[in-house]
Amino acid sequence: MLPRCVLTLCHVLVLVLCLSAAEDFDWTKNDRGSFYYGSFPTGFSWGAGSSAYQTEGAWDKDGKGISIWDVFSHKKGKVAFNDTGDSSCDGYYKVKEDIALMKDLKLNHYRFSISWPRIIPTGIKSDHINERGLKYYDNLIDLLLENKITPIVTLYHWDLPQVLQEKYGGWQNISMVNYFNDYANLCFERFGNRVKYWITFNNPWSIAVEGYETGEHAPGLRLKGTGAYRAAHNMIKAHAKVWHTYDTQWRNKQKGFIGISLSGDWGEPVDLTNQKDIEAAERYVQFYLGWFATPLFHGDYPQVMKDYIGRKSAQQGLGSSRLPTFSPQEKSYIKGTCDFLGIGHFTTRYITQKNFPANRGNSYFTDRDLAELVDPRWPDPGSEWLYSVPWGFRRLLNFVKTQYGNPMIYITENGVSEKMMCTELCDDWRIQYYKDYINEMLKAIKDGVNVKGYTAWSLLDKFEWDEGYSERFGLYYVDFRNKNKPRYPKASVHYYKRIISSNGFPNQREVESWKRKATETCSSSNQLLAAGQYSSENAGKPKVWPVHDEV
Ligand code: NOJ
Repeated sequence: MLPRCVLTLCHVLVLVLCLSAAEDFDWTKNDRGSFYYGSFPTGFSWGAGSSAYQTEGAWDKDGKGISIWDVFSHKKGKVAFNDTGDSSCDGYYKVKEDIALMKDLKLNHYRFSISWPRIIPTGIKSDHINERGLKYYDNLIDLLLENKITPIVTLYHWDLPQVLQEKYGGWQNISMVNYFNDYANLCFERFGNRVKYWITFNNPWSIAVEGYETGEHAPGLRLKGTGAYRAAHNMIKAHAKVWHTYDTQWRNKQKGFIGISLSGDWGEPVDLTNQKDIEAAERYVQFYLGWFATPLFHGDYPQVMKDYIGRKSAQQGLGSSRLPTFSPQEKSYIKGTCDFLGIGHFTTRYITQKNFPANRGNSYFTDRDLAELVDPRWPDPGSEWLYSVPWGFRRLLNFVKTQYGNPMIYITENGVSEKMMCTELCDDWRIQYYKDYINEMLKAIKDGVNVKGYTAWSLLDKFEWDEGYSERFGLYYVDFRNKNKPRYPKASVHYYKRIISSNGFPNQREVESWKRKATETCSSSNQLLAAGQYSSENAGKPKVWPVHDEV
């Protein structure tokens, strides 16, 4: 018989494991099912999104400071066709017009980001606060609320003040934590009486990997195998600090929520009966979404990241892992700092095991020991990386539910692009994408995933980072060649509007009629446009864009 103290210890251990262990995700079942007709829960929030650098323009106006994206896009050869966000959609000057588009769509929320250098030009609060910048966001927030549209505000959508990059090396440097916290605190102070949903970081994966590992994005650094991990480490700490600031100083009064927006492509094992493929797919997801979500929900990096990066670092003769570590105090400070989880999801990959020997250099990508594959039958209308695989969305959402204790989720980005040089308002592939992805989200909600809202990405065509204006994600087409930057609704506007007004998909007959009508409307608009008779002033208004409510 085992002594009593050993039994008690086992008891405690089992209890601890039950409390902290994530539920198991069943990798072996991928039950795709057919289209599901039904409604979203009452109060489900429908929205669309944007970000400051991608839409505002006015890059050097009204006292705004320079961001790393201003500098990066002004360097030749960094962005397709050397496009810049200097004026972009001129969103800075078109607040009223854009809110009218949102109203027409009957959006419940609008997700946008604040440009840090617009309100604190050097990034350092004690240097100078730009009141004109604050006024712009004040006005935007007020107008949204007047129109009953809830603002969901991102604090950091990639546009770090350039001074912080030059002086400190940006997210490589721990000092960003305090500067970011001061900036966030200013936003809570000035906007928190009206903004109740805050997102600290948008897609820190991209900031870390594309900004500090591959250099495709600003600040364009190529610190292979270390830069991304260090940047991520500092961002996770910055996120936690801002959450605590809100929690201790503002939550009582303002009663808002602080979350983060993580991007996660889904990784599906190539062969569901092969354990190696399953493990590789899990690594793919853990190195992507889990890299950030696991610390925030469980206090530390995914075990598999610690194992793989640690082992490879040792094989490379390094004294410690290239993946930084959190102290016990930091772990408990970071754990539980997410009131809601924002998810940006676009696509899926098939994953299989592939070894990358440690002596062949190091990088985030080779650390994972896997290969990514795609099915050539998957539609890919726009961006090279974006294949439409709707079922991956439901899989990802169920994974999140099991891993992180069924958190409150807002979909902060989902949508598809097109590569179209001429104006094309009849975006039937986008209608199909939204229809199927939103339907998979509905199935996930039926599975018990706690999704509270959905944000179509994006409201407008806009500056698509290193792809410039060559990839269009908008529900609304923007004519960038025209200095007035007119907006025209694509067919997907009409379709998304139907989903919103029905809060889901009522029945087959009705849903099929939506597509027919959206297509009829867009072909006549295309004709009007081609004949030069289209007036963008009327965009979205019933006079030009008849909305037939009857089936
Ligand atoms: C994620 C980024 O957050 C967003 O800014 C971008 O437009 C989309 N991906 C599409 O690439």
